[in-house]
Amino acid sequence: ENKMRIMPSILGANSLELHKEIARAKESGINGLHIDVMDGHFVPNLGFTAQNVKEIKQNFPEMEAEVHLMVSHPEQMITDFIDAGADMIEFHFESTTNAYYLVQQIKKAGVKAGIVLSPATPVSVVMSLIEIVDQILIMTVNPGFGGQAFIKEMMSKVAEVAQLKNAQNTDFEIEVDGGVNDQTFELVKKAGATVAVSGSYLFKGNNFHERLSRLV
Ligand code: DX5
Ligand code: ZN
Repeated sequence: ENKMRIMPSILGANSLELHKEIARAKESGINGLHIDVMDGHFVPNLGFTAQNVKEIKQNFPEMEAEVHLMVSHPEQMITDFIDAGADMIEFHFESTTNAYYLVQQIKKAGVKAGIVLSPATPVSVVMSLIEIVDQILIMTVNPGFGGQAFIKEMMSKVAEVAQLKNAQNTDFEIEVDGGVNDQTFELVKKAGATVAVSGSYLFKGNNFHERLSRLV
């Protein structure tokens, strides 16, 4: 049985102590961070910026920076995040009319590319993309806020993507984001996800290491 990768979502961290929070994650063996970017338009909230990503990479160069774009017109923003040092950029299928082109643009810059599906979006839309994406993210909450309840109905989508991956014999990661905690983690694993994002569960509380050890 393979071990799943955990990506802490720093949206769940104390923003006034971000450096300490990331250092704590690092001490627990974490090697990648999930960084939410929002524009108050695609979703009704704001998140981190390219400047934040740059500073995180300057302070923690060995941490993989996974940028989750929840913005309208992601094509206007990818250059900023590539320049900031993002290692992976994932954007919502629903946010652009040129998903295939955008994946190509991200990959051309030497950055990994991921496609994200909001809860209402069916798996079928990624069919033409599975050959070129590095990751498919199935949202398990509606995008925009940390601390929401896990939508367990999304597990059938995860299983569907896992099946596609087997059948097509291509390689990409299958990620879930939203409401992942020690209760819901088993479902995610059983459905076939390979990467799980977790924000408030890991950071809210003063026992990151212990909480992390209850996952995987
Ligand atoms: C939600 C964000 C998530 C969020 C997850 O729109 O994309 O990354 O931070 O937070 P939790 O784990 O608290 O649901
Ligand atoms: Zn996210």
